[in-house]
Amino acid sequence: MEYRIPLFSLNYSEEEEAEVLRTIRSRWISTGPRNAEFEEKFSAMLGARYAVALANCTVALHLALRILGVGDGDEVIVPSMTFVATVNAIRYVNAVPVFCDIRGNEDPTLDPDAVGSLITARTRAIMVMHYAGFPCNMDKIMAIAASCGLAVIEDACHAPLSEYQGKRLGTIGDIGCFSFFSNKNISTGEGGMLVTDNPAYNEKARLLRSHGMTSLSYDRAMGHSTSYDVVALGFNYRMDDLRASLGIAQLNKLGPDLKRRSEVRQRYIRGLEGMEGLTVPFSGHAGYVSNYIFPVVLEQSTPVKREFVRSELRRMGIQTSVHYPAVHAFEIYRWSKAVLPHTEYFADNEITLPMHAALSDADVDYVCRCLRDAVPRSAAA
Ligand SMILES: Cc1ncc(COP(=O)(O)O)c(C=O)c1O
Repeated sequence: MEYRIPLFSLNYSEEEEAEVLRTIRSRWISTGPRNAEFEEKFSAMLGARYAVALANCTVALHLALRILGVGDGDEVIVPSMTFVATVNAIRYVNAVPVFCDIRGNEDPTLDPDAVGSLITARTRAIMVMHYAGFPCNMDKIMAIAASCGLAVIEDACHAPLSEYQGKRLGTIGDIGCFSFFSNKNISTGEGGMLVTDNPAYNEKARLLRSHGMTSLSYDRAMGHSTSYDVVALGFNYRMDDLRASLGIAQLNKLGPDLKRRSEVRQRYIRGLEGMEGLTVPFSGHAGYVSNYIFPVVLEQSTPVKREFVRSELRRMGIQTSVHYPAVHAFEIYRWSKAVLPHTEYFADNEITLPMHAALSDADVDYVCRCLRDAVPRSAAA
């Protein structure tokens, strides 16, 4: 179905075409100089010492856990209000996800006050996810981690350039992980980045992303290295230079993209002000953020009412989504028997509205009008 107002719009133009063409014409398309350029630009943008380009964020999360030595039977505290990949990565290293609730509808990020009671002798790490690009309470989370000797991994997929007390998200914990999946702020089709200030973690990530080999094919092809050893059980988690070229073009657009997204958010907030039965998460947040998505939550609602509102919006030509179904409620994680009332309510009653830089003010006003029309009628659903 063609939507009058789609959820997301790919921010591609001649710049992406030109960068990819340059790479094709260079005759080197797998991991090579464009990867290095993308990594340098990304780390400089974040103010991080190292950035390692990868095939996607799921593998970045996997590597992060491997690098931090999380393994068999270790416990990792993680939100259930996230994309399933955050949690699956914990299982890849045979560790155990321990689901933690979010703070509530206003702030659907990990509740630091709920973390303490989940810590056991087996806890090794806390994974946070900066929902929609808004920061978790990193002060409290870092303090808990420091006092209990835990590592912190930031799933910063939603949060390129988002700030927290003068630092960029993804650079506060031990390792930050980013996604460049098509619908992210930075789109390369598939792609990811692991970010750290720790030189040993950087070295390890580079080794493990390429089979544990001591050199890359590019180095060998360039005559920098003629042989290699394999010193760890690594993977093929590399990004190719075609995707890195797309990433470079996208990085140049990120500032203006976030500026427009911020204007769109402000217009939504004004358009929905005073509306009964609706919460706009993070509405009081004043910091610089990526605005990856624009979530709203129906109050005193049910999944049936939420579905009514979504189908009304669909009828009016507006595409919506849900971020996210609760991970602990998926069949594969039901064994956890976690009870997370805030997460469960949010998962059942959140609606993600269109958010991207190509939205006009008139588009946003239309979505607000349609929502104001549909929500009161959902009471009868
Ligand atoms: C919060 C979160 N974590 C992890 C991922 C996984 O990223 P990727 O698709 O790049 O593997 C995504 C992307 O969809 C995400 O939104």
